[in-house]
Amino acid sequence: MSKASTSKGGAILYREASAADGAAIGLLHAQCWLGEAADKALARTIVSERQALWRERSARTDPATRLVVAESGGEPIGFACAYARRDPQFGSLLDNLHVAKAWQTQGVGSALLRDIAGWSAAVAPDDGLYLWLLPTNRAARAFYLRRGAGALITANEHAAARAAMLRFGWRRPASLLAGQH
Ligand SMILES: CC(C)(COP(=O)(O)OP(=O)(O)OC[C@H]1O[C@@H](n2cnc3c(N)ncnc32)[C@H](O)[C@@H]1OP(=O)(O)O)[C@@H](O)C(=O)NCCC(=O)NCCS
Repeated sequence: MSKASTSKGGAILYREASAADGAAIGLLHAQCWLGEAADKALARTIVSERQALWRERSARTDPATRLVVAESGGEPIGFACAYARRDPQFGSLLDNLHVAKAWQTQGVGSALLRDIAGWSAAVAPDDGLYLWLLPTNRAARAFYLRRGAGALITANEHAAARAAMLRFGWRRPASLLAGQH
């Protein structure tokens, strides 16, 4: 299923990714990480590593995975990837949500998140939706909090190695579809 919308940057199509999108998604993911002042050799390594990863992921056809791209003019401008029923307590995992810098604050991230919420509510209706965030990623944390996400913490997590990352999420991801976010 695909959806279209328009923003100040032009028409945007939201659709499930295919194997043909792997290299472009990998490039976008690497660019989101690298910023502008990255060392050239390191940048090349990260781009090829991300492209290999997303070529492999986009080629999989697994009903428990959702990989959705936002594209404009035939180019991916954002993507999100989620896995159903990843955690017995917290539910489906939103593993990636990235929007190209030039397209941020135009509603693309919200639309990708709604796509994942709708998919998650359909394939795992009783499950929550969660994600991991670096404590330093304040902008993303604010983005999710404004969309109703809460901090999700288990009793022993402070002691665990993973405690360097923060878990946020929704007990009922369908709530994202009801709001205007
Ligand atoms: C976090 C992220 C995904 C948000 O994506 P985005 O496309 O900028 O998100 P949106 O445009 O939907 O929303 C961002 C803000 O822009 C506003 N906005 C949306 N459409 C708008 C429009 N047409 N005009 C003006 N503002 C608009 C939204 O209201 C929102 O503000 P709010 O949170 O106060 O409501 C994006 O910043 C990103 O890719 N960051 C880097 C990667 C990252 O940190 N990912 C998350 C961790 S995995």
